[in-house]
Amino acid sequence: MDLKLRMRRLRANEKIRSMVRENHLHPEDFIYPLFIAPGENYRKEVSSMPGVFQLSIDEAVKEAREVYELGIPAVILFGIPEHKDEVACGAYADDGIVQRAIRAIKKELSELYVITDVCLCEYTSHGHCGIVRGGEVINDETLTLLAKTAVSHAKAGADMVAPSDMMDGRVQAIREALDANGYSHIPIMAYSAKYASAFYGPFREAAESAPQFGDRRSYQMDPANGNEALREVLLDIEEGADIVMVKPALSYLDIVWRVKQEFGYPVCVYNVSGEYSLVKAAARNGWVEEKRIVLEILTSMKRAGADLIISYHAKDVVKWLKEEN
Ligand code: PBG
Ligand code: ZN
Repeated sequence: MDLKLRMRRLRANEKIRSMVRENHLHPEDFIYPLFIAPGENYRKEVSSMPGVFQLSIDEAVKEAREVYELGIPAVILFGIPEHKDEVACGAYADDGIVQRAIRAIKKELSELYVITDVCLCEYTSHGHCGIVRGGEVINDETLTLLAKTAVSHAKAGADMVAPSDMMDGRVQAIREALDANGYSHIPIMAYSAKYASAFYGPFREAAESAPQFGDRRSYQMDPANGNEALREVLLDIEEGADIVMVKPALSYLDIVWRVKQEFGYPVCVYNVSGEYSLVKAAARNGWVEEKRIVLEILTSMKRAGADLIISYHAKDVVKWLKEEN
């Protein structure tokens, strides 16, 4: 056959394949989630997320050290408070579970970048991401509490805050509050295009944050919508977001691509709990090769335009990357 171009030439062996490879995973792409629980010496595996644990602060510090030593630059903290109430007191208490965890981690590991998830759902008795009255999540009153939460995290030593509530105007409210309290240097990573997704199921077990009535569809996005995601991202950028996020990741790579192409902002994706659990379950059954499928999934996120990936696989991935070098 007289073929001028044969694409297979550059696929002939791993040497040339690696030379022309377009996208790579690096340890510094990753952010590892930690679930902080009350108590001491407490380490409880989340049944739907093998390898992921609820950790007391002392255990979280150990875990954070392992993460840091693996070369993962950042963690994102979620809190499971001792008490929940109508107004999420535990979210913005100076001695709240996350605030104490930040101090403990920063004291031991000042170089580890500590991001905090800013939301109320783990702290409210009803499990919604905002103040509830008459069965409705009230937007503007929630903003005050989110801003208080973000400021208390910054005060405890957080390097960056990440609001995940999906209230309108939260980025502006948080930016103003941080600035007014002397934290104008603290960046905001906004969960901008956050969908009302079935992929969060296992997380709600991990964080004990399932809504006690109804669902989150009145504030999180409809999975059918794409253009709306760009409007959400634009709003967050206008309100002062430094990094924008698309969540979940795998079913929303078209959104990741469009957001990156449209705005050129740093884009984070959240490879969420359900994405993790599906892979783990299939791998445990021997139905897929865990390492190959995880690397393929996460590389596809980079290819779509993600700069940062929050992932429960992060520790495994960094170990695998090391084996290969
Ligand atoms: C809280 C929050 C959720 C996740 C991150 N922050 C759950 C939700 O909105 O119900 C999901 C993360 C995951 O599934 O891994 N607002
Ligand atoms: Zn929430």
